[in-house]
Amino acid sequence: MLEVKDLAVTYGQHRALKGVSLTVAPGEIVVILGANGAGKTSLLKAIAGLERGAGSVRLDGSSIAGLPPHRIVEAGLALVPEGRGIFGDLTVQENLALGAFAHRARDGQQANLDRVLGLFTRLSERSGQVARTMSGGEQQMVAIGRALMSAPTILMLDEPSLGLSPLLCTELFRNLRTIRDSGVGVLLVEQNARQSLAIADRAYLLENGEIVGQGPAAQLARDPAVQAAYLGGAAGHAAAPAASTPAPAHASARRRPQPSPRTRWPLSPHRPPAATARRWSAPRPTGWCPRASPTWCASRRSARPRT
Ligand SMILES: Nc1ncnc2c1ncn2[C@@H]1O[C@H](COP(=O)(O)OP(=O)(O)OP(=O)(O)O)[C@@H](O)[C@H]1O
Ligand SMILES: [Mg+2]
Repeated sequence: MLEVKDLAVTYGQHRALKGVSLTVAPGEIVVILGANGAGKTSLLKAIAGLERGAGSVRLDGSSIAGLPPHRIVEAGLALVPEGRGIFGDLTVQENLALGAFAHRARDGQQANLDRVLGLFTRLSERSGQVARTMSGGEQQMVAIGRALMSAPTILMLDEPSLGLSPLLCTELFRNLRTIRDSGVGVLLVEQNARQSLAIADRAYLLENGEIVGQGPAAQLARDPAVQAAYLGGAAGHAAAPAASTPAPAHASARRRPQPSPRTRWPLSPHRPPAATARRWSAPRPTGWCPRASPTWCASRRSARPRT
């Protein structure tokens, strides 16, 4: 069980994380959603000991805060970093063997290797291939495989789907489910909100270094405010968020600009339905320009001399 409490990370004057608390239990997938610069990577790095943080980080009851990264790996926590971080000049087999360097993983190295190769069958076919010559998706398999070779109880992944084709993304998320089902707790940072919420058990919403929402993944995926902020506004932005879910304070700021009923029709090539048109007979909003109306455009087109 990973328990993070009031974790803060500061870069000079910039507070990248402002007291983040979360938990990840064995056998569950927890996803962190957040915009660029929200602090997702800083969070994972601070947990993994790669960034200095203030606050409490406990793994299976023992504090790992302030430990050097290799001791955190020994304790049972592995990170697949943003950009994968594999050794490009080494073969697949050598990369995987390096993952088993931790004392905790040495006894069960062969069993772990079998498990990894069972999960990523392509790696067994390519065990002698130099890692940098592999495709992006295959390199991601090497990175996850190497992390699993350390026999972690908690696996953290920083945007593993970045740059992968839709097909490989689907395969990746399916593999993460299999890893979860083997009893490993997965802390997943993703911008692919739709697919990650679909496989996750719980989710946290991170904004400007703070957790602004959390809950069961299925519930968050249905929340209109979350949909508007992270899922392309599928359910529309006007509906209120589910009562039991804290509304992301940032939702309106992060929402893609949606044309309101007032601004939609003058910009649309189509005439509005009558009801909307009637609303438009009301006073024009500030800044309204008749040149933006389709009627005006059509009249200009017909007035333009043909060449
Ligand atoms: N080493 C650093 N020195 C100074 N500022 C940093 C450093 N690393 C990150 N930051 C800043 O901290 C904030 C959070 O960065 P972080 O990389 O954690 O965000 P992120 O959520 O992972 O973003 P992205 O989705 O783009 O990967 C950003 O404003 C970033 O500029
Ligand atoms: Mg990042």
